[in-house]
Amino acid sequence: YKRITVKSLTEMKSRGEKISMLTAYDYTMAQIVDGAGIDVILVGDSASNVMAGHETTLPITLDQMIYHASSVVRGISRSLVVVDLPFGSYQSDPKEALRSAIRIMKESGGHSIKLEGGKEVKESIKRILNAGIPVMGHLGLTPQSIYKFGTYTVRAKEEEEAQKLKDDALMLERAGCFAIVLEKVPAKLAQEVAESLTIPVIGIGAGAGVDGQVLVTHDMLGMTHEFNPRFLRRYLDMHTAMTQAFRQYSHDVKSQDFPNDEEQY
Ligand code: KIV
Ligand code: NA
Repeated sequence: YKRITVKSLTEMKSRGEKISMLTAYDYTMAQIVDGAGIDVILVGDSASNVMAGHETTLPITLDQMIYHASSVVRGISRSLVVVDLPFGSYQSDPKEALRSAIRIMKESGGHSIKLEGGKEVKESIKRILNAGIPVMGHLGLTPQSIYKFGTYTVRAKEEEEAQKLKDDALMLERAGCFAIVLEKVPAKLAQEVAESLTIPVIGIGAGAGVDGQVLVTHDMLGMTHEFNPRFLRRYLDMHTAMTQAFRQYSHDVKSQDFPNDEEQY
């Protein structure tokens, strides 16, 4: 396999090839996602929800993100690995943002970082890029700001927020970001943004007019049950399949069917 780089992604956009991206938080899942040919693996701070059971992404720490990212990096051979800077590791000042990004690169071996926001984090993005660390932006529904929004509904439906999003997207491209995630915004707006930029726009709940798609792996596998947004396509019903397997195992243990004569020494 030829490794995917930040440059490959821009090339994919210019030849009209859509970019596939999924999350992973551990070695075994990363191996499977990478082996299936997914272009980008995101070590998302959604680990806070999916792995740790928190209600929001806010509690996960930089140390915990580095643990997840280093596990993922050991599992991949082709995919580009993007690691989320968690809440609190970059908002206070650009120097702290750079320190956090450097820790991720040195301690996990990830290939790039992602952070949420537009002009509020411009100086931090510039500092990180100046250190040679590729940065992916993230606009629209930015879950680290959930207490400001108050809800997880679609963002930028009104003209004022839509205009700010367009300005922020252009700023991120000009600052040197290699791609942008657009989360839960109207499809028409997302397409407009994608068409106005040369860097790829990767959507989640942002329609088909963008340059790639990202989903949380546990959601698309149907492991999570309670989370049912319209944009989510489930490719498996893993929740049911796993429940059946666990029930069968328990039954087999209790009925002394497992282990059988061949399953022992
Ligand atoms: O943390 C995450 O999984 C993300 C994606 C939903 C884009 O940021
Ligand atoms: Na995230």
